[in-house]
Parts: sequence; structure tokens; C-alpha cells
Amino acid sequence: MRTSLCGNIDWVGAIDWNVRDFHSYVTDRGATYNSYLIRDRENAVIDPVKGPFFKRWLENIGKFVDPDSIRSLIINHAELDHSSALPMAVKAFPKAELVTNKKCRDTLVSYFGGEEWNWRLVKTGDEISLGSRTLRFIETPMVHWPDSMFTYVPEDGLLFSMDAFGQHFASSARFDDEVDFDIVMEEAKTYYANIVIPYGNFVRKAMAAAAGLDVRMIAPSHGLVWRSHAAEILAAYREWMVNRNRRKVIVFYDSMWDSTALIGEAILDGATVPGVETDLIHVRHANLTKIATSFMDAAAFAFGSATLNGLLMPTAAAALVYMEGMRVPNKAAFAFGSYGWAAKGGPDQVEEYLRRGKYEIIRPPLKCPYRPTPELLAEARQAGGELAGKALEAAEYKPEHGH
Ligand code: FEO
Repeated sequence: MRTSLCGNIDWVGAIDWNVRDFHSYVTDRGATYNSYLIRDRENAVIDPVKGPFFKRWLENIGKFVDPDSIRSLIINHAELDHSSALPMAVKAFPKAELVTNKKCRDTLVSYFGGEEWNWRLVKTGDEISLGSRTLRFIETPMVHWPDSMFTYVPEDGLLFSMDAFGQHFASSARFDDEVDFDIVMEEAKTYYANIVIPYGNFVRKAMAAAAGLDVRMIAPSHGLVWRSHAAEILAAYREWMVNRNRRKVIVFYDSMWDSTALIGEAILDGATVPGVETDLIHVRHANLTKIATSFMDAAAFAFGSATLNGLLMPTAAAALVYMEGMRVPNKAAFAFGSYGWAAKGGPDQVEEYLRRGKYEIIRPPLKCPYRPTPELLAEARQAGGELAGKALEAAEYKPEHGH
């Protein structure tokens, strides 16, 4: 496996081929916990790994240097997928300073104790010279935890960006130009939709802080290193961080005996007009990860639920809560669905969720008792057309990043 990013900087992380559930994020392609070794007059390691991979990480470092020679362990982010090997690392690198910002140190101490460990606190603009190379630190709070930080090596134009620009993608390849570009961009978008999206304003600040840097290579803490396509992923983040919508209408639903499904299909039929992408997603047969990625850049959507025990369907509620947490209210929407003897059932409750999500609700719930009539289905087609009209108000999609 090729591990060299550039002279004497190597990937020494771990590949988690079999993880499929990353705190509910469905990782169909597995994941990696990236760590990088910089060999210089003073050796440094960028980021620990997840605890169960400690031994493999140490072996990878040991292929290049004696762990005793590590002088700095940089910790760009406190989340446990990166930091849970830290207590073991403290013992394995007895001469290393633990270099991080105050918020990150405090969070790590909350997890592990270790107030007495050999901490070195840094803030934006601080630098450490390793000899021929410099580490410069840029705090990037809330991308996506309060402790998040970038580490930049100006001599190589190399940005260690922790989770930002990452992808959950286990592979023997280490670089973006060693795999299908469409797949790496799909995984980067999925990552953004499921991890980063609520923090777009903070991504903007981080991007502004990095704007003056000569970034030639981006090494995130998950997935592939952006060696040939750094410009493309930066361009993609510039679009995603402003929640830019596509001319896309999604009809989400969960149904019991197909009445809600029939209404959803009629809405989809009405929304299917030239220039508008459409999709129909049964939320019980999709997972939240895919739902979020489809939803992320849709200009308009309808959400339907049948009525179960007087309430909306549990899977519908789960999807709506997940979507609300993404905090992308700049979408037109309405609720639909069926009910039986409970007058205020699934469709009305879906609308309550839509109000909580602060979407632009363009009409009252489209609902029927038991089975939709031909008149209701005609109204559904018309309502679908209204969603398409809203979607066409979005700017035409001409991606900067060629994807
Ligand atoms: Fe990969 Fe936010 O941890």
C-alpha cells in the first residue's frame, strides 16, 4: 500500500473495513481513521485513531520510526473515533507533547482524565517548527465539535483537516486519484449531509480562515487524501455550506395499506416536469443516511404518513426528526397521508414536524380517510406541480466542482 503524501510524510492510520453503523450513519463502504506521521528533526504524529485500532496504528508508525522518537502528537478533534486510543498513546509515546487547543484538551480530560499528561495548548496562528517543516494551527470551532482544529504545513501546502472534507470509505487506496472520482464525491457528500450540514455557518468561518492558505493537498481524518482534486472538494464545500438547493422534488412517505403511497405517487406524477429532478422514497425501506443525502439539496418536498394507533408512522417520525436536525429549512413542503377513524392522525402530525423544521409550508395537509378518491388524487397531482414550480425557482445547477 502506498502511504507517502510527500517527502517523509506518511499515512499511518487504520482501515475499518467492516463498520456499517457509525452512530447510526450507515457506512456501506466502511471507514478509515486517518493518522499521519511527519519525520523531521522532531517527529510528529497527526491525530490518534479509534481505540481498537491502537495496535495496528503503532505497528504502522513503527515501520518508519521508533515510537520513543515522537515529540508531538497533534489532536485536531476530541471525538472518540479519533481519540479513544489516546490513553494508550500516552504510554507508547513517552516523550511526546499532546498538542491541541484548550477546548479539545478539556473534552479529552472529561473522557479520559489525564490532567497531568504532557499537554501543549495552541490557538489559531500558533506554530511549531519540526526542523524543515512547520505546523500551523487554525481553530475551526463547531466543524463539527467545539474543539475542532486544522493543522497546516505551509512548506507542502498540506492541510490536515480532521473530519472536514472526509468520507467514510475503506479502501487500500489512499488518494482521490486512485478511485472512481464519482464515488469519492458521493461519499464526501454523504458525509457532509450526515455529519457537517447543521454547521454550515461555522464551515463558512473555517473556509474563510483557510482562504489565505496555499492549499495543495487536503488530508482529512476519514477516507481518501485530496491530492489531485483539492480544488473540487473545496468548491463543493462552498456550495454545500450555503445550503444551495437543486431543482429537485422528493416525495417521502410511509404507508400501511397503500393509500398514502397512492397519494405520494400522484404528487410525484404532478412534480415530474422538464427541468426538475424527482424521487420517491419510502422511508421504511431507506435508511436515514440515504434520506439525508437526498434531502440535503432538494428545493421542495412532500412528506406523507399513514396513521398508526392515532399517530404518524414511527419511521416517518424518525426521518422527520433526523431531517430537522440537519437545519436546512430553505425548502418548500407540505404534508399528506391517510387516516381511518382518528380525525387528527398521521398527516396532521407530519405537518407539526414540518412547522418545527421551519420549512415553507405551501398548503394544508393533503389527506383522506381510508382510500384516496379520484378527486383527491387529482388535487395531489396539482400539488405536486406546485412543488415543481417552487423547485424551478432555485438557481439552475451548474456545479463548480464538475459533479
Ligand atoms: Fe471523525 Fe467527529 O469524528
